[in-house]
Amino acid sequence: MDYKKHITEKLNLQGVDKSDLYSFIEIPPNTDMGDFALPCFKLSKILRSSPVKIASDLANSFVADEYISECSAVNGYLNFKINRKNFALSLLNDIICAGNDYGASDMGNGKTICIDFSSINIAKPFHIGHLSTTVIGSALCKIFRFLGYKVVGINHLGDYGTQFGKLIVAFKRWSSFEAVQEGRLKELTRIYVKYHDEAKLDPSMDDEARRYFKLIEDGDKESNELFNLFKKITLEEVDKIYKLLNVTFDSYAGESFYNDKMAPVVDELKEKGLIKVSDGASIVDLEEYGMPPCLILKSDGSSLYATRDMAAAVYRKNTYDFDKCLYVVAYQQNLHFKQFFKVLELMGKEWAKDMVHVAYGMVSLESGSMSTRSGNVVLLEDVLNTTIDKAYKVIEDKNPELADKEKIAKAVGTGAVIFGALCNNKIKDITFSYDRVLSFEGETCPYVQYTVARCNSVISKCGNGGDYSNVDMNAEEYEVISILGKFGDVVKNSAEKYEPSLVTRYAIDLATAFNKFYIGNKIACDDPTVKNFRLAITKAVKITLTNALTLLGIETVEQM
Ligand code: ARG
Repeated sequence: MDYKKHITEKLNLQGVDKSDLYSFIEIPPNTDMGDFALPCFKLSKILRSSPVKIASDLANSFVADEYISECSAVNGYLNFKINRKNFALSLLNDIICAGNDYGASDMGNGKTICIDFSSINIAKPFHIGHLSTTVIGSALCKIFRFLGYKVVGINHLGDYGTQFGKLIVAFKRWSSFEAVQEGRLKELTRIYVKYHDEAKLDPSMDDEARRYFKLIEDGDKESNELFNLFKKITLEEVDKIYKLLNVTFDSYAGESFYNDKMAPVVDELKEKGLIKVSDGASIVDLEEYGMPPCLILKSDGSSLYATRDMAAAVYRKNTYDFDKCLYVVAYQQNLHFKQFFKVLELMGKEWAKDMVHVAYGMVSLESGSMSTRSGNVVLLEDVLNTTIDKAYKVIEDKNPELADKEKIAKAVGTGAVIFGALCNNKIKDITFSYDRVLSFEGETCPYVQYTVARCNSVISKCGNGGDYSNVDMNAEEYEVISILGKFGDVVKNSAEKYEPSLVTRYAIDLATAFNKFYIGNKIACDDPTVKNFRLAITKAVKITLTNALTLLGIETVEQM
């Protein structure tokens, strides 16, 4: 039952678009006054009347029915009270029937969204700084898919630049195929760091590195073999982490993929008179827009990060015909995205308006907890392994008899890291604390996962259940139900705002309401109607929490 739709139809307002009206109806934060509300100031322009008058006219002519029991006008708002029992019965039924699909919708209607996220750099360590882009981007992919969009998840690999020439020089001097196979990404990082130390003393190394980079670009066999090896090793290593985090991509087209796709873009910029030459370099002047110039070609004719992003954007539009193209990248790159979106707009690409930089804040580790370091960065793999180990110890401590402890520790440990990174508004800088994310009390993943396990044990104790249509609801039961009913809106909102934390917060709110209900109400009670009703609530909570966690890339566990 869609109450907003029902209200929209009942109001039957001349001259007001039904889908507009639908979107104006909101769920008030405090439901004492009503379960749904229509802010009538949104109609005053169209209806040429004051919000107070619109609200009172509408309230006077409203006829209550089996779904809406009351409609009143208060300060220009129209407040609706629903028949809560009918609402509860139909909602529980809907959730239990829909299962994994509860909260899904077809709002995307097959439209395509490209999501550029994680976008790691080849031969560089995968560190805690990549956590946010990876989990925010992955959650957005899952959320948009759940809403009926076609999603193209893109790992725009940083696989271009003179650093690969440097790596070849370093490899030839201090490493070998065996050492790289053995030491993997750590070996590549080691020789890269060593290169920088040594090149300070011997600047001729940089010339050699530039020569090797040119050889890669020119298709030289040996140089490309090495480059591909570095790429393969990096991807194999990061793939382990992606697997743990339940992250997948549809494309790994990185910066080097655009080597042969930039010339047409540069030509178009020239044709449209947008290029200026300054100190030999080709730039697009953005002074008029209060920004420094966007660099397109260096004086030696080589391309830049922005040039590759321009070519990638054009390629994505041509290949996927996206409705939106998102870039989940730290706020440090705000200027880069503003510049290159502007250049696309100046080129007359009407779709430049569909490009979105989804910026997020920094993650740092609580001081004192940086136990494992490599080349001065905190590796994401180490953070995940530490959290999994700590989760294992907690389980050993609290529930040593539990079967499958390792599997559970993995779900709890990785879940804690993901949830911790998705807990706050994405633009906030966060400090990661092992103790905080692993706590069973508070706004944490273990708390939510534990609630799901609690639902499971209730369900297995209570059996199948049965009719509860004559139930009398109490306030704690209704509180859970009213939160259950908001899930679909929360998912839509999180997509519209590119804000997975709304789903995270929702999971906490639902778990909190359920636990309050659980503590205050005996579920396996003697009255079969009450028992069946409470069992249905428990099933619906399990489904909804599981769906919320799945959207975030987090697994649930049967027992904990
Ligand atoms: N590899 C880049 C970095 O680590 C991020 C790339 C983001 N995506 C893009 N299309 N620019 O900073």
